[in-house]
Amino acid sequence: MKIFVTGCCGYIGSHTCVELLTNGYNVVGLDNFSNSKKEVLDKIREISGKSIKFYEGDMLDSSILYKIFSENEIDCVIDFAAYKAVGESVSKPIEYYTNNVSSVLTLLTAMKKNNCKRLVFSSSATVYGDPDTIPITEDSKTGGTTNPYGTSKLFVEEILKDLYKSDNTWDICILRYFNPIGAHSSGLIGEEPNGIPANLMPYISKVACGKLECLSIFGNDYDTPDGTGVRDYIHVVDLAKGHIKAVEKLDREKNGLYIYNLGTGKGYSVLDMVNAFEKANGIKINYKIVGRREGDIAVCYSDPNKAKEELGFIAEKTLEDMVRDAWNYENHN
Ligand code: WQD
Repeated sequence: MKIFVTGCCGYIGSHTCVELLTNGYNVVGLDNFSNSKKEVLDKIREISGKSIKFYEGDMLDSSILYKIFSENEIDCVIDFAAYKAVGESVSKPIEYYTNNVSSVLTLLTAMKKNNCKRLVFSSSATVYGDPDTIPITEDSKTGGTTNPYGTSKLFVEEILKDLYKSDNTWDICILRYFNPIGAHSSGLIGEEPNGIPANLMPYISKVACGKLECLSIFGNDYDTPDGTGVRDYIHVVDLAKGHIKAVEKLDREKNGLYIYNLGTGKGYSVLDMVNAFEKANGIKINYKIVGRREGDIAVCYSDPNKAKEELGFIAEKTLEDMVRDAWNYENHN
């Protein structure tokens, strides 16, 4: 099978390409390098021993999409290409809605014209807003998103539901990621955000190697065991494997619209993450407690059972694997 991966050089895209190639899939990739680097293509080849058929370009440019579909018999599309910095999205809503929503409409139009109606879409737990109930199931209320990033993901989910209602020959799987962290054990690919990291784990890694001085922990007055925010961290390699399961599901079903949480079902606090990183890597992390970050919620973790029952997906890597592999990547780069 030939899989078209948008955002193939990004954090989750690159790890998914490795899993696809090592599982015998042919991969066609598209990236505009707005938040990734071209050398990731070499790293993917070094890890998997195989190459992606790569096209450089932007998903907003329908001509590159038509070129890809005319030159390749695509069986399924996995769409990762999106901006994903929550804080940045608040100050750049037009860029976020253009890049994260309009580009998907361009993609869906090209897919329909080329009679390719099988799509795995990269969504996010942010679509749940501030959840009423924990753990979060796929039936939990969505909406109440607190930033354009999360709202853009919610908009695309609604577009996909309307598309399926209009034509039930589409075959769509929406994957809601919780908090992806870590890196491939080789240390060759990992999370490389532009500028100062907004997310916890890359920030901890930069403090550990001395590139940043001190971690600011955003609030210790939440209603959690130690007062710091609790999240469902999932190893990026487990997340990548979840995409293989989604591709297999769509190939079995031939049509339908499916929604799955991809998480571990376990919640860890910020201090749990600092302590786990220090213990696994033998490094002290300087931190200070500061005020809460605007838009943060106290607790967010998944009920992963639907993905287990319907995809046969279970996250296998431990918290120690996650923090060790994150540090290993930082050390390699
Ligand atoms: C985790 C915890 C912070 C940084 C976001 C998006 C989500 C996904 C992951 C894209 C929280 C605390 C963080 C720091 C801290 N992105 N923290 N100091 O906000 O749960 O999720 O990123 O797919 O969609 O919403 O992740 O890593 O920013 O924060 O104390 O310097 O760490 O308050 O409790 P978040 P995060």
